[in-house]
Amino acid sequence: MKNRADRPIGIFDSGLGGLTVFQAVSRRMPEENLIYFGDTAHVPYGSKSRETVTRYSLDVARFLAGKRIKALVVACNTSSALALNAVAQSLAVPVLGVIQPGADAAAAATSNGHVGIIGTEATIASGAYTAALRARLPGVRVKATACPLFVPLVEEGWWGRQATTLVARYYLGGLKRSGIDTLVLGCTHYPLLKGVVRRIMGPRVRLIDSAEQTALETERLLLDLGLRRQGGRGQRRFFVSDAPKRFLKLARRLLGVRVGNVELHAFD
Ligand code: DGL
Repeated sequence: MKNRADRPIGIFDSGLGGLTVFQAVSRRMPEENLIYFGDTAHVPYGSKSRETVTRYSLDVARFLAGKRIKALVVACNTSSALALNAVAQSLAVPVLGVIQPGADAAAAATSNGHVGIIGTEATIASGAYTAALRARLPGVRVKATACPLFVPLVEEGWWGRQATTLVARYYLGGLKRSGIDTLVLGCTHYPLLKGVVRRIMGPRVRLIDSAEQTALETERLLLDLGLRRQGGRGQRRFFVSDAPKRFLKLARRLLGVRVGNVELHAFD
């Protein structure tokens, strides 16, 4: 049988935003084999119910399990917030989400114990970040705000435009006035808006991007389990559930990720 360490790490998101996590994992562990799945037939997850997000997430997780992955990274914040337990219970391999690593990084970064969180409607309504932060830092004050227009603005490549600055000012005004010193970018797409968010929040607010922290924790987990692949350069495979050409184009335009070949796997 093939060495278990040679098996790929599965990484999934509702669409292409999870490529921010894919990039962080890929940079940190170039020798690992990686399979990315973007559920482009069902994006966005951020405005859907827990039941629906869980159903979609389980379909993707089972598909990746069939590719004999050694671990699964749920790169989507919404799926991590709503469906992580269901996914972890349904797979025989370890499953990591992005909420805990993001909350850990925020808890370590804050000095005044006042943390802001931005994310999709579903992520914010779930309270998952707030719960993870409170578990790590009892007494922490949390201000959470949903920013539903950010995802489409990013997907249009509009992060440099005035319209995006206006929308961001509207969403972030309350957070800026609240006295937070740390802000969690709790959605895969938001790292692409770091510039505008930083300009509005000012230099004293630390921005937490959970992609790097998730990559670090994935590596730690593999080392603990003796599953870290050694040497060589790993393979990268990309799957989507719809419109592979659009994924390819947007991945290149938004993230500069060169995706050689995107395979289609549609769910019934
Ligand atoms: N990937 C989602 C997240 O991180 C954002 C896009 C969506 O709503 O599906 O929450």
